[in-house]
Amino acid sequence: MARHINDLIASRRAVLGGLVGMPLLNLAGCATAGPATPAAASMSFASVTATNADTVSLPPGYSYRTLIAWGDALFDTVSADFDPDTLTRAEQEQRFGQNCDMLAALPYSYAFPPPRDGDRMLLCVNNEYASAELMFPALERPDQFSAAHLETLFAAVGVSVVEIERDGAGWRALKNAAPGQGFNRRITPFTPMRITGPAAQHPWVAAASAVFNANEPGARNGEVACGTMQNCAGGLTPWGTFLSAEENFDSMFAGTPQDLVAPSRDDAYALDALNHGYPAPYIPRRIAPPQFRIADNPHGPALFGWIVEIDPYDPTSTPKKRTALGRKKNECANTAIARDGRVAVYTGDDQRGEHLYKFVTRNRFDPNNRAANMDLLDEGDLYAAQFLEGGQGRWLKVTLENANAAAQAVESPIRFTDRGDLVMRVRDAARLLGATPMDRPEDVEPVIDANWRGDGTVLLACTNNNERGFEAPGNPRRQSENPNTAQNNLPGHILRLDEAYGDNGAERFTWEVFALCGDPDAEDLIHETRTGLPAHVSVQCNGQPTFTGDRFACPDNILIDSSHRVWIATDGSDAVFGDCNDSVLVTPADAALPRPVKRFLVGPIGAEICGPLMTPDERAFMCCIQHPGGNTIAGAEFWQLRWTGAPPPSHFPDGGDAWPRSAVVVVTRDDGGRIGD
Ligand code: FEO
Ligand code: CA
Ligand code: CA
Repeated sequence: MARHINDLIASRRAVLGGLVGMPLLNLAGCATAGPATPAAASMSFASVTATNADTVSLPPGYSYRTLIAWGDALFDTVSADFDPDTLTRAEQEQRFGQNCDMLAALPYSYAFPPPRDGDRMLLCVNNEYASAELMFPALERPDQFSAAHLETLFAAVGVSVVEIERDGAGWRALKNAAPGQGFNRRITPFTPMRITGPAAQHPWVAAASAVFNANEPGARNGEVACGTMQNCAGGLTPWGTFLSAEENFDSMFAGTPQDLVAPSRDDAYALDALNHGYPAPYIPRRIAPPQFRIADNPHGPALFGWIVEIDPYDPTSTPKKRTALGRKKNECANTAIARDGRVAVYTGDDQRGEHLYKFVTRNRFDPNNRAANMDLLDEGDLYAAQFLEGGQGRWLKVTLENANAAAQAVESPIRFTDRGDLVMRVRDAARLLGATPMDRPEDVEPVIDANWRGDGTVLLACTNNNERGFEAPGNPRRQSENPNTAQNNLPGHILRLDEAYGDNGAERFTWEVFALCGDPDAEDLIHETRTGLPAHVSVQCNGQPTFTGDRFACPDNILIDSSHRVWIATDGSDAVFGDCNDSVLVTPADAALPRPVKRFLVGPIGAEICGPLMTPDERAFMCCIQHPGGNTIAGAEFWQLRWTGAPPPSHFPDGGDAWPRSAVVVVTRDDGGRIGD
C-alpha cells in the first residue's frame, strides 16, 4: 500500500490557478488472435488527418454544431446574454455548467425498452470540475478571486439536465420558463442529497452532514446539502435514472496537511486522506465555503466519491448517493442486465494503481414496474477485479468477513467495523483482497442489446500511467520487450473482459488486450512525447499488432453502438502524439486482430473529448469538448500562463478572440445518414 501514497496525493485536477491537469500516463498478458469473426461493422468515412486546428474537424460530408456551452441559459429567468465576468452563483445555478464530461440521453417519456427513435430527449450532462483559469476573463491576478468568485466556480460543477429537441434544423437545446417548469435542472455542490445504503449512518457521514447543513440551507429532513461534484462519467439504468460518478473530490476541499492532524482523528482518517489526496492546498482557505474547508469540516470528503442516482423525470427529486457501490474516484457506472435479471454496474476507479469494480443488485429489474426498481442499488454484492495469468480473472467479493480475514492474514492493522465502514474505505478492502492495481481504469462499458441485456462482453479503458511498478496480469506494458522505457504506460490501453457464460452476474471472467494504444506505423517503438518523455508506442501483443490505422493514446470514454463499433474518446493523446489534438476514434469490436482504427473527430486546442453518445437512431453523434484552451499546442498548461496576460490557446466554440467555453457538440451527416457508415 505504501508505494502508492505519494501518487495518491497528486490530484489530476486542481482549482484556482493550480489545477494539475497533468497528462499522466502501464499492463501484462496480451490477446492472441481470436477466431475469425463476422464481417466488420461499416466504417466507410474518410479518416480525419491529424491536426492541431482550433475547431472540431470531421470527415467530408459531416458537420457539427454547438448544442450548448458553458454559461448558456437553461431558463428564461436569466438573460440570454452570458457575461462570465459578472457571473454569480445564483445565475450559474440556472446556466449550463463548465467542463462538461459524461453525456447520456433518455427518452422524453420513460419507456422500457428504450425507443430507437424520438425527436425529444432529456440530456444528462456531468460538469466535472471548474477551471478557474478559464473563468472570469477580466481578473488580472489570482488574489482578485473572492469568496463570491469561488462560490460561483463551485456552482459551475455538478450535473446539468437539458431538454433537447430535433427540428428541421437539427438538434437544439431547449430553455424552460423557470426552474421546476420542465425537466431542465442544475445540480451543484450545494444541492440537497440523500445518502442511502450501508454507509448512510457512518459516523463520518453524520459529522460531515451536520457541518454541510449548518452552512448551506435547503436540506429537508434526512437530506444533506452537500451536493455532488467532480462528476466524471456515469451511466444510465434500465429504469430511467442517471448515474453520476464522483471522481476527484479531493480537489474541492481546501486546507493544508496540518489541518488533518488532530488528536481526535484516527488512523483510518489519516489513511483516507492519503488514499484520496485531500486537502487541496491550492484552494485558498480564506475564500472557500466553510463546509469545503478541511479545518472546519474534516469529514466532508466522506460525502463524496459515491455513485449518485438522479431521476431526471422528476426535477424536484432528491439525488441519492448509493453507498453500496463503494467510495472511490469513480469514473463511470455502466449497467447491464444479467442472465437472471439482476443488474450489474461497472465502475472504474481512475487513479494509478486502483481497481476495477462491479456491483450486482440483490433483486431483479422489473421492466413493468419502474417504481419497484428505484432503490435496487441499495442492496447487492460488490466485487473488485483480480486479473490472473493466462487470460483468466475473477471477481473478488468485497464482504466484511473477507476483507477482515484478508487484513488479518497479512498482519495489517486495518479492520473494518461494519458494512458502512467497508464501503467507505473500499479501496483498502479491495487492495487487501488482492484486487489488481491498474493503469487508471476509466470507462467500463458492457455490451448490451436493445433490451439492456448484457452478453458478458465488457471493454475497459485504462488511460495511462506514468509510473513504473506493479507488474501484474492485466497490465500488458509491464512485460514489454523494452524494459528500459516500457515500464510505464504513457499511451494507455483497452482491455476486453468476457464474463463467464456470457453472464454479467458471473464471478469469473477471461480477459485480453483489446488495443495497446500507440502508433501502428512507428518505425521507432520509443516515441518522444511533446514534453520529451520516452513513450513505448508499440501496439503489439504476443508479436501481433492489436490494431492498424490511425495512431492514438490515452483512451478515456467509450461508446459501443448497435453494430458494436467502438467509439473511443481520448484525454491527453496530444501529450503523447503532439501533432493531433484529442480525438474520437472508431474500431469494430467484432473484427479479427488487427482491427482497423479510423479517426472520426479531432477536437480544438487544449480540449479533451468526453461523453461520446449516439442518438437512438444513430443519426447524430454527440460529445463534450472539455476545457478547450486548457493547454497550448506545445503543451504548456494555460493555468500556468493565465496571469502573464497570455491569451487563451483556444477560442472554441465562439471563435474570434472570444474566451473558450466547454461545449456539447452534435455531429450529423449532411445527407442525414447513419453516423460512421
Ligand atoms: Fe475525469 Fe477519469 O477522468
Ligand atoms: Ca474521464
Ligand atoms: Ca478524463
